Order: sequence, then structure tokens, then C-alpha cells
Amino acid sequence: MRQPLVAGNWKMNGSRAMAKELIEGLKAGIGEVSKARMAVCPTFVHLPEVASLLEGSSIQFGSQDVCDRVGTGAFTGEVSGEMLKEFGCTYAIVGHSERRSLYGESDEFVAQKFAAARQAGLKPILCVGETLEEREGGITEEVVGRQLDAVIELEGVEALADGVIAYEPVWAIGTGRTATPEQAQETHAFIRGKIAALDAEVAGKVQILYGGSMKPDNAAELMAKPDIDGGLIGGASLKAADFLAIGKAAG
Ligand code: PGA
Repeated sequence: MRQPLVAGNWKMNGSRAMAKELIEGLKAGIGEVSKARMAVCPTFVHLPEVASLLEGSSIQFGSQDVCDRVGTGAFTGEVSGEMLKEFGCTYAIVGHSERRSLYGESDEFVAQKFAAARQAGLKPILCVGETLEEREGGITEEVVGRQLDAVIELEGVEALADGVIAYEPVWAIGTGRTATPEQAQETHAFIRGKIAALDAEVAGKVQILYGGSMKPDNAAELMAKPDIDGGLIGGASLKAADFLAIGKAAG
């Protein structure tokens, strides 16, 4: 059985005070979350604070991005997977649609980041998803398939078992417009089926999260779908009560 994972993507939000308050709130309520594993992904600068606040807690944490290169060197502004691992990160989000669209990250570049995170011993959370135009053009599976193929071609299908996939339809992110459970399940099943065609064991193991306006009131029906193994939560992860409620909705 795949354990549900509910991960919070704080994006460019937070302050030291807000991080402390949010983490204290999560620690106070985590005992009521029985089935899901919970994780937070703050900004790089908030990671040390969050790491120390979470010491001894079952709540995991990760970064929102990672450098595509391994090791150290002259890469101004970058943070390596090894550095993140040293701080206790479990995860590194790669290929979030905001990075793809606002910062021009290509499928190949995202695949390099996936590889670098994995090499550092992090679990990459690989985000995939189509824009509204692509959905309306009927090419959702083509787009998501291409995004997955970039990683499979670089690292092999087995590599996916070391990470997590997050299906995030771009039109549902931060818009309040969630994919219906049926729409989400359809794409999740496509993703799992595509992986199963190459390696059934990997397909059975890999967690596929849904992301895009997941909230306490729609989380349970989304996560009740057979191929939806949790959520990657933006806005609703910034309030302890909402984020915990989503964790509880995982069962
Ligand atoms: P949202 O963001 O929950 O605010 O829609 C999700 C994400 O971008 O990961």
C-alpha cells in the first residue's frame, strides 16, 4: 500500500515569525493525522529554522527547487542537493509549473534537477501538468507524457521509484478552480499506466500527488480516488488548521 503524502509548498511566502507559528501549529495537531505523512517545503532561507523546529517531529521537510548540478562550484545563486540533504531535507520539488513557465525551465532541465536531487539522496517531487490551452486542445496526456519521458530517458523508469510525482494542472493552481476528482483520477491513471507499461513494480510503488487548489473541503474526495496518493498544497498549506485538515482527509 502506498502511504498518502500531503506536502505543503509555501512558495515565496513566510517570515521567521510566520514559519515558527505555522510549524508550532502543525506540531500541535499532527497527532490527529493518522494515515498521511506530512511535509513542508519552505523557502531556502527558512529551511534552517524549519529544520530546527521540526527536530524530533514526524513532519518532514524539503526545498522548492534544487540546482541541476552536483557538487560545489561557481554557480552563483544555486543551492545543491547535498547542501539540502545536510540540512535534513527529505524532498526537493522539481519542475513546478511556476518554474517552468516563469523561469523557462525545460523538460530536460527539470530532468537534470530530478537526477541531481536523487543523486544527493533527496526524494524529488516531480511536478507535471498541462495548461488550460493544452487541456482544451486535448493534449493533456501528450504534455504530461513528454514531461515524464524527459526523466525516464535521462534516469530510467526505476528512478521514479525514488521520487514522488505531483500532477498539477496549471489551470487549477492558485485559481480556486480544482480539477474534479474524475478529471484528476483520469490523468493519474494515465501516469501510472504509462509507468506500468515500462515497469509494473515502479508503477505500483510511486506516489502520485494531486496539486491545484486542494482545500479541506475537496481533499477527501480527491484522495479517495485509487490513483491519488495525497496532495501538493500551496495556499492551504500556509494555515496550520487547513493543512492539518487536508492531512486528516487522507484517511
Ligand atoms: P495551490 O498551489 O494549492 O495554491 O493551488 C498548488 C501548487 O502550486 O503546488
